Amino acid sequence: MCGIVGYCGHKNAAPILLEGLKKLEYRGYDSAGIATLCGGGFCLKRCKGRVDGLVPVSELAGKTGIGHTRWATHGAPTEENAHPHCYGRFAVVHNGIIENEALLKEECLLRGEHFASETDSEVIAHLLEEGFAGDLLGCVRKVCARLRGSYALAILCSAEPDKIIAVREKSPLIVGARRKECFLASDLPAIAGEGVEVYALADGEAACIGAGEVKFYGKTGAEVQKTPVIYDFEGENAEKGGYTHYMEKEIGEVPASIANSLIDFSSESRYSDFCKVLCQTYYIQIIACGTAYHSGIAAKYAMERLARIPVEVCIASEYRYRDPIISPHTLVFAVSQSGETADTLAAAQCARERGALVAAITNVPYSSLTRMADFVLFTHAGREIAVAATKSYAAQLALLFSVALFLSKERLPFSVLSDFVELSRHTLSRCFCIADWAPRMKEAKSVFFLGRGVDYCNALEGSLKLKEISYLPSEGYPAGELKHGTLALVDDRTPIVVLLTQRALAEKTMNAVHEVVSRGAEVFLVTSLPEYVGAEGIRSVCLLPECAEIFSPLLSVIPLQLLAYRVAVLRGYDPDKPRNLAKSVTVE
Ligand code: F6R
Repeated sequence: MCGIVGYCGHKNAAPILLEGLKKLEYRGYDSAGIATLCGGGFCLKRCKGRVDGLVPVSELAGKTGIGHTRWATHGAPTEENAHPHCYGRFAVVHNGIIENEALLKEECLLRGEHFASETDSEVIAHLLEEGFAGDLLGCVRKVCARLRGSYALAILCSAEPDKIIAVREKSPLIVGARRKECFLASDLPAIAGEGVEVYALADGEAACIGAGEVKFYGKTGAEVQKTPVIYDFEGENAEKGGYTHYMEKEIGEVPASIANSLIDFSSESRYSDFCKVLCQTYYIQIIACGTAYHSGIAAKYAMERLARIPVEVCIASEYRYRDPIISPHTLVFAVSQSGETADTLAAAQCARERGALVAAITNVPYSSLTRMADFVLFTHAGREIAVAATKSYAAQLALLFSVALFLSKERLPFSVLSDFVELSRHTLSRCFCIADWAPRMKEAKSVFFLGRGVDYCNALEGSLKLKEISYLPSEGYPAGELKHGTLALVDDRTPIVVLLTQRALAEKTMNAVHEVVSRGAEVFLVTSLPEYVGAEGIRSVCLLPECAEIFSPLLSVIPLQLLAYRVAVLRGYDPDKPRNLAKSVTVE
């Protein structure tokens, strides 16, 4: 994770870098810093915590500079560990992890060099200083050849002012250029704007950035020509639109997200190649992390039920390490909102190397995942700013359910799914009870979420949302599993959220309800089955509209997202920027 920016042009760099960093804060907000080239040396400002801590930046003169917002991996989130790291003639910002840092650092220490930070990144500045003898790009290439791990780097050298060297290996980096100005960033929002042409660096590529001029170099060091990427610049949709937090606003955008992400594969000819592959698929693997993984679990239930195709859902970070089996006619879906999650990219790469076709499901058109996949299916959730995924999860469900519907042996009409746009609007309007549930949960020692069948995915998702933004311990369980050990934790201080959307399974799930009620637990029921309103032992019900049961996760997640949001706010936390987390996880 971490966000990096660079600017070289005719304006003062620091204010531009600051604005860029604010737009990348979703990538990490443990500490921040800016370095500019000024008066033959560097002007440096760093702070612990959020980018706002750098304000004002007026004392940072110079028209060339780099900046960083950090998600700590090596070393605590302190000012000393904040980037840029300066050593000798070099200032460096880094996104990624240098895995052989200890070995490289040892070499510098033996030369008598001192380190000012505990990071894995500072060693890069040391190696550059040691290796530099006039050929800046050559020196950067030699140093990079020694680094193991992942990196996107922006490098300033005081001996070569008005220039930034950028390199990328397994961490995203894009370059923007317009007349007399060049920009550099981990992600598009930081640099997109009127007349900016954007170029995506590939692994092993470097860029030499000057004022209004940028040159690209391939893996061999030879200059290469790059074509600008096409992107829609919709401006920075960063307004909260009257909401206190982005998360609440984004939950409100779930219906639009579903509407925009549903695909009627049978009628849209642009997907014909993908549909041909789907029709010859006998085995599906879904690889993803976190919330995206939960969308995969929902898809498994829907695809297996409707299409009778076996589906395996795999945690991306484990995929490569279990020696995965790819049989003929296997299709792999790599699901990632950001399209930059290092674990998902590595798993998708592994699947391709073993002969699978990979279909990316992502929300970000120019992301690394789109460049490596055989097919790309976009979710159209719109930019998601809150760290906790909400509308993008709904979009992933909508898209994966569209695939399930297309594969359906019963060939159900598309309207079965498109009805969920309106149903999700109704659901939002029925969630008033959450304002009453949240105060009763906010002091809980732990919260359990239970669901059977397809409801299991949202037991996991509801629990993840709650713990990541409200810091309450929580677990999601299949409803029948609690009694095999975890029931020992349940008492009258353990709220239990139960999902109940499938009539055929309801009686079985109610067994679990009775088991926890008889241990004194309070049950909060999220159901689309009106006959369970007023069921024995249940006082708190969120009644969803009745719907096609297999797709019900599109609705049942909404009250759970709102619940996590309300509990976090009541506990005094910022739900948009939970501690220790970042929106885009670009390290393994
Ligand atoms: C939780 C959350 C994370 C992400 C996970 C994968 O709210 O957002 O669990 O879902 O880090 O991220 P993507 O989808 O970008 O690959």
